[in-house]
Amino acid sequence: MGTGRTVWLSRAVGRVRVFRGESMEVYVNRVKRVRELMEERDIQCLFTAPSSNIFYLTGVKTTLDERLQLAVLSREGPLFLVLPEMYKEAASDLGEGFELLTWADQQDPMEPVREACGTIKGRAAVDPKLWAGHLLRLMETFKDCTFVDAGELLGKVRSIKDEEELRCLKKAGELADEVMGEVLKEISVGMTELELAHFIERKIKEKGADDISFKPIVASGPNGAMPHHIPGDRNIEKGDLVVLDFGAVLEGYCSDITRTVFVGKAGNEEKEIYRIVMEANEAGYRAAVTGALCGDVDRAAREVIDRAGYGRFFIHRTGHGIGLDYHEEPYIVEGSKVSLEKGMVFSVEPGIYIPQRFGIRIEDIVAVTDRGPVRLNNFPRELVEV
Ligand code: CO
Ligand code: CO
Repeated sequence: MGTGRTVWLSRAVGRVRVFRGESMEVYVNRVKRVRELMEERDIQCLFTAPSSNIFYLTGVKTTLDERLQLAVLSREGPLFLVLPEMYKEAASDLGEGFELLTWADQQDPMEPVREACGTIKGRAAVDPKLWAGHLLRLMETFKDCTFVDAGELLGKVRSIKDEEELRCLKKAGELADEVMGEVLKEISVGMTELELAHFIERKIKEKGADDISFKPIVASGPNGAMPHHIPGDRNIEKGDLVVLDFGAVLEGYCSDITRTVFVGKAGNEEKEIYRIVMEANEAGYRAAVTGALCGDVDRAAREVIDRAGYGRFFIHRTGHGIGLDYHEEPYIVEGSKVSLEKGMVFSVEPGIYIPQRFGIRIEDIVAVTDRGPVRLNNFPRELVEV
């Protein structure tokens, strides 16, 4: 057992690579916290899918395909990682408290799963990211179990970030800020949305990111009214508002930033709506304090837009948690009773979308700390005309 035990299998199967210099303790503690919640919720066994959830609990990243891969955690004993045999070498040194069980392609993958959890009865929690086909096999194999959703349990543990995770999120945020600076220099009349989106992807990778968090959104003119517009061949024109939304993955952790820029001179109406969105962003950020509810953060941002008379044009929740996944718990949504705790990290991204005309969104990632909210994106929010 060593320190720095994280293995990365997706790039070259069979080669173990230290991904982050974490000690085993991080993973042991995560498993411990999960087990505490399993006890509270009367869950006998947890089945985790090859997703950010397996990575979070074991530090092992694999390539997802149709072969069964599972982390099996009972109330006692080691965490069993069930993987296809071809990962045998790469995942051989998992460390104390973690055990590898492999199955060969010609074998029934349920054999090692049965070995990992024995005969179980009662509630079994399943990662919502597990493929339905694999879940059906589990249900057939463990007929005495009631299968429940593990999403809430895993989300609760993962939503509180430790110091190391916060450091990664901050670095990913800084990288996104830098790229935003480059994008504002690059954007010009005549360029297509797709050209600019490709530029963003390239810059993110050039600056040392592992990957992009999601396909960049470049939404110009009337396309800006669609919050998740897919960049296309529309040319950016003089007088456009352009919504730019992208993020980087760094050391496994995601960032996510949105700025909206004016190409040419902004009119009075656009300037006024921009000011309202900026104020809503500020109000959401200020509301992100320990003890408040996620619903309060949404309310704070939404109220600014409602009061200004644009409420019906703010057509999505105020934000989402971010970490190993770019959308995860906690969700900043109207009515959410989840209370904010130190270590939670999420986006505040109010927007106003006027159909057929334009959209304006300003998004930052905010961390909840003892000293109040801290933004992990610091690219200027003021109106920019390029
Ligand atoms: Co975004
Ligand atoms: Co976002």
